[in-house]
Amino acid sequence: MIQKSIEGWKGTALGLLGVSLFSLLWNITEAQIRYTIPEELKEGFVVGNLARDLGFDVSDIAHRKLRIASESSGQYFRVDSEKGDLSVNARIDREGICAQSGSCLLQLQVVIENPLQLHRVEIEVQDINDNAPNFHTKDGVLKIPESIAPGARFPLESAEDLDVGTNSLSSYSLSKNEFFRLNVKTLKDGRKVPELIVEKPLDREKQSVHKLILTALDGGNPVKSGTAVVQIIVQDNNDNEPKFETTAYKAQVHESAVVGSSVIHIKATDLDEGLNSEVEYYFGAHTTEPVKRAFSVNPDSGEITVLGNLDYEIIKSYTFDVCAKDKGNPALEGHASVQIDIIDENDNTPEIILTSLPSPVPENATVGTVVALINVKDLDSGDNGKVELNISPEFPFKLKPSFDNHYSLVTDSLLDREVKSEYNVEIIAGDFGVPSLKTTNYIHVKVLDVNDNPPTFSQPSYSVYVKENKAAGKALFALTAFDRDTDKNAQITFSIVDSKTNQVPASSYFYINSENGTLYSMSSFDYEKIKMLSVTVQAKDHGSPSLSSNATVHVFIVDQNDNAPAVIYPSTFMGSVSHQRMSRSVKAGHLVTKVTAVDADSGHNAWMSYRLAEATDASLFSVTFHTGEVRTKRSVSEQDDSSQRLLIEIKDNGEPVQSTTVTVDILIEDGFHEPISDFTHKHTEPEKKSSKITLYLIVSLASVSLLCLLTFLVLLVKCARGSRGGSSCCVRRSDSEYKNPNRNLQIQLNTDGPIKYVEVLGGDMMSQSQSFGSYLSPMSEFSE
Ligand SMILES: *[C@@H]1O[C@H](CO)[C@@H](O)[C@H](O)[C@H]1NC(C)=O
Ligand SMILES: *[C@@H]1O[C@H](CO)[C@@H](O)[C@H](O)[C@H]1NC(C)=O
Repeated sequence: MIQKSIEGWKGTALGLLGVSLFSLLWNITEAQIRYTIPEELKEGFVVGNLARDLGFDVSDIAHRKLRIASESSGQYFRVDSEKGDLSVNARIDREGICAQSGSCLLQLQVVIENPLQLHRVEIEVQDINDNAPNFHTKDGVLKIPESIAPGARFPLESAEDLDVGTNSLSSYSLSKNEFFRLNVKTLKDGRKVPELIVEKPLDREKQSVHKLILTALDGGNPVKSGTAVVQIIVQDNNDNEPKFETTAYKAQVHESAVVGSSVIHIKATDLDEGLNSEVEYYFGAHTTEPVKRAFSVNPDSGEITVLGNLDYEIIKSYTFDVCAKDKGNPALEGHASVQIDIIDENDNTPEIILTSLPSPVPENATVGTVVALINVKDLDSGDNGKVELNISPEFPFKLKPSFDNHYSLVTDSLLDREVKSEYNVEIIAGDFGVPSLKTTNYIHVKVLDVNDNPPTFSQPSYSVYVKENKAAGKALFALTAFDRDTDKNAQITFSIVDSKTNQVPASSYFYINSENGTLYSMSSFDYEKIKMLSVTVQAKDHGSPSLSSNATVHVFIVDQNDNAPAVIYPSTFMGSVSHQRMSRSVKAGHLVTKVTAVDADSGHNAWMSYRLAEATDASLFSVTFHTGEVRTKRSVSEQDDSSQRLLIEIKDNGEPVQSTTVTVDILIEDGFHEPISDFTHKHTEPEKKSSKITLYLIVSLASVSLLCLLTFLVLLVKCARGSRGGSSCCVRRSDSEYKNPNRNLQIQLNTDGPIKYVEVLGGDMMSQSQSFGSYLSPMSEFSE
């Protein structure tokens, strides 16, 4: 049985088997049996035949009631009471029963009755390699700072192998890697402890975690192994400084950028981790004040924003250093430079500068005369700083560009101070920015007077009416003249230009106040001698050279009733009495005589009327009021006195009335048959001839009357048309006593009563006016 059991063993235990066999045999005698079995046998495995090994007959055994006394190890085995076989009853785990002790013996008490005997059976359980090395922690974590020097050692967890002897743990191995190696240290108690040795410097930034597999091997055959993962976390050291994405940043910002607007984001990265990689941004150590005033750096975000006012015209570009600092201890820094260019904007309006004060320009200045020098400026650059200068087209000036941004304001056309004496020239400067900025400036240009205007009289000619017999030295008229120039050029002096009237120089008739143009008479005038005078007046300014103009003053002498009518017929040269004869046989209505008078005055002053003032017999004679005819009122009777005296008064129509009288003596003769005769020596023509002349006179009177009537009709028609056109009739009275400027020609008709005369007044300025008088009598028996 034992041999059999030994056979069941593996060949490796053969030596042991031999020893066991001898002791087993010996123990039988000592009533003590020892079996050696490997652990982990199958249930029912027969360890040995106890009956035979104890020396009993197998057939007898059934009567002896072979059994295992209840003891601690009893549960592992059982005995077949019929055959006496000891077999495995339960799993026998050597490690479970004996742990790590070198030999493992199970004690059994075997009881045999009839007679009762007690036998001790020892069963040695031998180890088999049924346990692999085992790590308690399958995932170990080891933290190693990256700054660790090579050669540093870190103990690792040992593995455990429950087996003993050669089956127990024998060696360790580490997965292949270049940073670590394994060292196995054997302690005094023989335990083997693995150690990790750092072979090469670690760099967290290259590899932050190393995963190693630690394998424990036992010495069994076949070898069993156990593994554990060792995770090595390389702990960060602040060994990397922050690094900017670029060493030089470039950005642009408009000069109008408001405070707070973002310009650029700077960014630095730090390969470290944790605080060692947390970056804060700052200006470089030597950043200048202007930069700090203009920009700020957000320490956390790295955003550079506008802090103050930017002005391209002051600083066009900013260059400064920035620094990124991590929060390690000690902190590390990285650096970069930033260049921020300011973009110009059209924020400056052009400026107009007068290089010279505008000089006054004479009105006769030639086109192109320089008036002012102008300079324009714009602080912006590029198109924003390019300036265009313009002038409003309504001004007679233009801008002439000279060298860069300099212009001269020159006259563009002839000036006339009398039209415009000064200009406020509007000049607009605009730049080419978008939108364009504009500046307007006004240049005051004064136009200087030049004596280019002669004085002008208010009228080219004047008509002045002066009553005759007026005292000398009277102011007749005030002439006015005007000069459009100024100052001396407009200061006027009046004078009389000497011309002769009737061989007498005009200056002897008139005097003019040289300053105010008042014209005075220097003598009194007699209408009966001079009806009109012309005087040329000159107005002269004080310019250099001076200019002058002339005006003619027509002085019309107005008639006054200063002449009494003078009787021209019947002639009274033989005294104051005229003698007439007449026949006593005349009928009523006989024309005795005709009184004819003349008046040196004219017009109404010369319009005469006749009246019988006194008569010897007022019933016999009558005098026609207008004609002065003396006729018989009735036929003369025998009783009438032969001598009759008539006093006839002749009056003119003037104011005051002037009159004269004539006395006519009439001698009535009997048998005197031809009374129509004047007994003057002048009229002694034969009767036939006389009547012929009378006929001619009548014909010519009729034709003149017809002519007058025609003229009158023509004038009437003209008048009618004129009044329809709104103007007044040709015969009109001027408001002023003196003036009647429109009267150049006047036909004066005497319409009250029979037409006596037509007076034609020539209003010719160049020569003295002529008055043509035609005195017509309706009937004249005596005139030739
Ligand atoms: C002109 O001057 C004279 C003398 O000074 C003066 O009597 C006269 O009234 C003046 N005439 C006018 C129109 O001023
Ligand atoms: C004015 O009259 C004078 C004398 O007749 C003459 O010499 C002069 O030229 C005239 N002036 C003008 C402007 O007509």
